[in-house]
Amino acid sequence: MNNIHGAYECIGTDKTGTDSLSVLEKVRRDMSGRDVAKPSGAGGVGKSVLVCYASRYGSTKEIAECIAEEMRCLGIKVECLPAGRDVHPGDYDAVVLGSPLYMGKWLVEARDLVSRERVSLGGVPVAVFSVGYSFRDLSDEHLQSGEAALSDIRLFIALRDAAFFPGRVDPARLSPPDKAIYTIAGVVPGDFRDMEMVRAWARTLPATLGLI
Ligand SMILES: Cc1cc2nc3c(=O)[nH]c(=O)nc-3n(C[C@H](O)[C@H](O)[C@H](O)COP(=O)(O)O)c2cc1C
Repeated sequence: MNNIHGAYECIGTDKTGTDSLSVLEKVRRDMSGRDVAKPSGAGGVGKSVLVCYASRYGSTKEIAECIAEEMRCLGIKVECLPAGRDVHPGDYDAVVLGSPLYMGKWLVEARDLVSRERVSLGGVPVAVFSVGYSFRDLSDEHLQSGEAALSDIRLFIALRDAAFFPGRVDPARLSPPDKAIYTIAGVVPGDFRDMEMVRAWARTLPATLGLI
């Protein structure tokens, strides 16, 4: 199994996720990579999670897939789906929802999903992640703009956690309208994604989402 930054293997387990409870106990780390207290009770093995994303040029999709893969390594059943009308958040024990920022906002597919599914999303633990070039530098200013993009989302659902990940801007891939905005708005090109940061966050999710 490969992720975008090379070979990806579940640590200490086979690729079907068997023996994942012991892995969950061994590999719990927080975002800085330090070991954190072992949770009491059984792990999240057998629980189901929806990782749902909006993505225009694929970089957020790859981050969502990385989160899904990391959670599978912990023995959790994960579906990773694009935000759309055929997605039913109420069918899962928890939901992780992500979108890139475009001109300071989440993509409309993700915002529509939250609005349309607010009742079912209100009934399950939810964590979100936002992706943007600005999050390569987690200054107060950038975090405030990231939080501002979540204000619509927080109107509808209580979030267990919100992460902000650096994204990718590849001018060669942009549609003409996005290219025009990119030029005028001074969007910074480059692939700033940090998949280890993404994986570290994913490892915190079973506890954050109350799955263990
Ligand atoms: C036209 C345009 C507008 C953008 N606006 C923002 C923004 O307001 N804030 C930000 O942090 N990143 C912004 N970005 C960067 C994207 O969020 C980043 O490239 C993200 O990784 C794209 O995700 P995707 O590949 O899944 O579509 C913008 C990029 C483009 C091309």
